[in-house]
Amino acid sequence: MCGIIGYIGSNVESNLYLGLERLEYRGYDSSGMTIKRNNDFTTYKATGVVEKLKSTIKENEEFGIGIAHTRWATHGQISIENCHPHFSSNGSTALVHNGIIENYEELKDDLIKKGKYFYGQTDSEVIAKLFDCKLDINNLRRVKKKLVGSYALAIISKNSDYIYFAKNKSPLYIALGSECALIASDPSCFVGFADGYITLEDGEYGKFSQKEVIIYDKNDKIVKKQPQKLDFSFINEEKSGYQHFMLKEIYQSRLALEKIMEVYRSYDIKEKLKELKNYEFDRIYLIGCGTAYHAGLIGGSYMREAFNIDVFCEIASEIMYKNLNIDEKSLCIFISQSGETADTLAALEYCKSRGGIIVAVTNTEYSSIARKASINFPICAGQEKAVASTKAYFAQCIVLYILTSYLKGNDYILPLYNFKRQIDFGDDNILKTLAEKLAGYDKVFFIGRGRDYITAQEASLKLKEITYIFSTAQPSGELKHGVIALIDKSVPVIVIATDENLFNKTLNNAYEIKARGGKLVLFTTLNTDSETEKAFDYIIKVKKPEKDFMPLQIILSLQKLAYFTAVTKGYDPDKPRNLAKSVTVE
Ligand code: AGP
Ligand code: GLU
Repeated sequence: MCGIIGYIGSNVESNLYLGLERLEYRGYDSSGMTIKRNNDFTTYKATGVVEKLKSTIKENEEFGIGIAHTRWATHGQISIENCHPHFSSNGSTALVHNGIIENYEELKDDLIKKGKYFYGQTDSEVIAKLFDCKLDINNLRRVKKKLVGSYALAIISKNSDYIYFAKNKSPLYIALGSECALIASDPSCFVGFADGYITLEDGEYGKFSQKEVIIYDKNDKIVKKQPQKLDFSFINEEKSGYQHFMLKEIYQSRLALEKIMEVYRSYDIKEKLKELKNYEFDRIYLIGCGTAYHAGLIGGSYMREAFNIDVFCEIASEIMYKNLNIDEKSLCIFISQSGETADTLAALEYCKSRGGIIVAVTNTEYSSIARKASINFPICAGQEKAVASTKAYFAQCIVLYILTSYLKGNDYILPLYNFKRQIDFGDDNILKTLAEKLAGYDKVFFIGRGRDYITAQEASLKLKEITYIFSTAQPSGELKHGVIALIDKSVPVIVIATDENLFNKTLNNAYEIKARGGKLVLFTTLNTDSETEKAFDYIIKVKKPEKDFMPLQIILSLQKLAYFTAVTKGYDPDKPRNLAKSVTVE
């Protein structure tokens, strides 16, 4: 959540703006920038998406030092007052912050007692108000010691030619280019400016100019860090003819599969797989949030079928409250597109502290989760821009399929190759017609059995995230134990049925809905008879792949259904309200 960037060089306004566009996936409640030239500040702020800031900015090619921010509000409403950068009382220091200051109320009370005035309600403004004397390393160290919580900070002063920084829990990177220097929440901001970058660790702080970077570790000792190569094979900045990134990314699932098949034949990955096999474990935990958790459920279903050991799927933010038996015999697999999700990171630290074997499945190889794991398995999906995850879910499930097959000693390339030839994105005409209907409802239910129930959960999440229609997923058999009370003719129920062994049972549950007037839609890979066809108002049928790939085949059409419904309702599916792509607060 929240993206921060700092830039030293020429064309500061336009380069910071480019950075904000790249960081917008982290939040789009408001954005702002402050630029220092000739010992004075110029500030621009706007609420709403980053594009709203553009018209306010006056471009300037001259050298300058600037910081910028795109916000996902945690404390204080979405307003110009709460928009970053925030300023010290004397107005000579400006800062941008990603994170949450947990003791901000205490600090604020103290500052108010000392006569400080606050123009807004954010925790971030409290940090700015702690900087009332000259900005230097001693002062930064003093302020940092007062802060409890998470922060990535970039700070500038009217009287300094450096950008100061500090990091705890929120990601932060620095890059020196030949003509500029940058700091950012995500190294994708450095593409086009520098060839390498430095990763900051928790507790580190310091300052940098165009010529030097000075970093102190958490024990206040200077540390020297070597930059690593900036290796962005592909940044997803173009919609390539699609109306939205979400649709483009659904179709890129095939590309992700091709990339996985290529990468998972490589020497590096084979070594990682061998390393995984060498661990001795007698339990597996798959851990993630939201869509990544659903990928864990699919992965868990593969592993439970393949191995004769306990496999648990856990929501990251809940794991520490469950008294689970996690120890050195536990293989803990953390699934995360961004690799920065704070809940998943906290779960990782928890499992690590209990001796668990830590493995990551991420889309971001430089991320905190990838770095903290003993082995990171990349999902090779390429940058995912739309907030609602689609191709990453698909790719996460594929990688979990590969890990299962490898550990079991099965070939995975041929089945994947066959699946690639069968991928079916569904019929757009039927999906669009159905989307137009769904757009008129205010609630939608999804049901399924076995793996289809997992797909129902993911499809329901996708629909509610981008259409704001209330939706819930139920195991088909569970419906009659309560939720059926909600069924009447105002409720469409989407039935997911891809498992022929469970098809008849699921159909019976569908008929129970029909008997109560509910509208029925079927998503299936199976053949249907005329009686079934009569019962359903719509049937979406896609090609039948091998059993393990059914959930991946059917989710593609369900993702598109959510997408078309959002578009019909006039919403931007790429930037759903209240959400952000990278959730770096707990
Ligand atoms: C996906 O559509 C969601 N926006 C969300 O559930 C997401 O999957 C979750 O926040 C986990 O993110 P991660 O994969 O980056 O850890
Ligand atoms: N807590 C800050 C705010 O609400 C930063 C939010 C964040 O990083 O998500 O402005």
